[in-house]
Amino acid sequence: MSNKLIKPKVAVMGVLQDAVKKAIDDQFVYVEMERSEPFAESEMISNLQGFDAVLCEPLDSVSPKIMDSCPSLKMVSNRAVGFDNVSIAEASKRGILVCNTPGVLDDATADLAFALLLACSRRICEADRYVRQGKWQGFQSDLMLGPDLQGKTCGIIGMGRIGKTFAKRAVAFGMEIIYTRHSKPDMLDKELERDLGARRVEIVELLSSSDFISIHCPLNRATRKLIGKKELSCMKESAILINTSRGAVIDQMALLRHLQEGKIFAAGLDVFEDEPNVPEEFFTLDNVVLTPHIGSACFQTRQNISMTAAQAIIDAFTGKKPKHLLNDEAFEQFLDSVNTKA
Ligand code: GLV
Repeated sequence: MSNKLIKPKVAVMGVLQDAVKKAIDDQFVYVEMERSEPFAESEMISNLQGFDAVLCEPLDSVSPKIMDSCPSLKMVSNRAVGFDNVSIAEASKRGILVCNTPGVLDDATADLAFALLLACSRRICEADRYVRQGKWQGFQSDLMLGPDLQGKTCGIIGMGRIGKTFAKRAVAFGMEIIYTRHSKPDMLDKELERDLGARRVEIVELLSSSDFISIHCPLNRATRKLIGKKELSCMKESAILINTSRGAVIDQMALLRHLQEGKIFAAGLDVFEDEPNVPEEFFTLDNVVLTPHIGSACFQTRQNISMTAAQAIIDAFTGKKPKHLLNDEAFEQFLDSVNTKA
């Protein structure tokens, strides 16, 4: 088989960092497509005509209709670890490769989740508004109190790479860890117990006994609206809920009502059901901290994400199975479609 199959033409959704551009310049031909909001399906279809691959982001939904309407498309390389914007099964049926970027954004995302936890517990955004609005009248021993962290229970939903990285931060702040994870009990549970004193529990126990809950599971059929009205009502009134995974893991309107009624202490949300739309009712609440999906938004991390996604395209189009290929089953068909002069 030849080394270089074809020099791919790649549609880059958004812009690439200069260091990444330098690294890929000789490897593939690319066009950056800047957008301030998600392209509609019809725009995606016209923008992707003639491209072999798309280097996309979580807001770029690559639907089966797009796959069918862009016959040259052979690969979707997602600049993200989450891949709920692409149907793996539909891509596989069409021999389209899908890759993601696990491992390079764990620290950044765990940091943001912990920043939200601190912002909610110490009421930082509310306090900042208070000072700016000229409301502060001097030290007051009952001003802006929030819960202590030391000795509290932190519940982690989804104990993958990011969940574990978050857990280390929580342990450093003196918290006990309980968690749920999707996989059957295995060595990882033993390691988590040994290294972090973490205990695996059922979701009901996690919801009812955690002081802080942080969500780190992927969005899929099993986790869509995992946290609804019933689950929210199991939580302590003093609980703080953090979500840096995907908005649709929570029933957003149920959470809104819960916050409006003061039934939990606060929530920190980096992700929303229908990004970039955030229901306006959230804006009037002091017990919620809102950030615009910036979990991995650190300079080096974002560059590493782009590099990882770009490398996957380089690997695939030189006949090498990409490290983070999500659909192995499509690789042979992909090779057949690009192998012009083997
Ligand atoms: C960001 O949301 C990611 O999934 O990496």
